[in-house]
Amino acid sequence: ESSTEVDISAIQPGQAIKAVFRKQPLFIRNLTPAEIEAANKVDVSSLRDPQSLKDRTVDSEKNKKGKENWLITMGVCTHLGCVPQGASEGEVKGEFGGYFCPCHGSHYDTAARIRKGPAPKNLVVPDYEFTTDTVVKIG
Ligand code: FES
Repeated sequence: ESSTEVDISAIQPGQAIKAVFRKQPLFIRNLTPAEIEAANKVDVSSLRDPQSLKDRTVDSEKNKKGKENWLITMGVCTHLGCVPQGASEGEVKGEFGGYFCPCHGSHYDTAARIRKGPAPKNLVVPDYEFTTDTVVKIG
């Protein structure tokens, strides 16, 4: 299937953008050091869908070439598929600083992990790789 290349050079720390991947919304977020610290402070075993930030960025097998500050996820709530807020909506980030799904109130943290509300899973991390320091190829 088709892949999508996104230039990430303009995304400042603390910003997230929306892109489109295979006709679905995709979020690309440049985490600040504080957001990385917040994600890493969480006891992973306490999570509904237990994954560390590194599992979702640099350390996962399929995303070896990633970087921990780049959080790349589908922008599709794992409850019933609404588009969460928090990418390019300014201060709308929910109670855990990541994304907020207004349909039924799911809150995702700075690793886009589900923390509160009905969604069963973390936002999905697609396959991706950095083709240069400023271009990421999704899919
Ligand atoms: Fe997101 Fe229901 S679709 S909370």
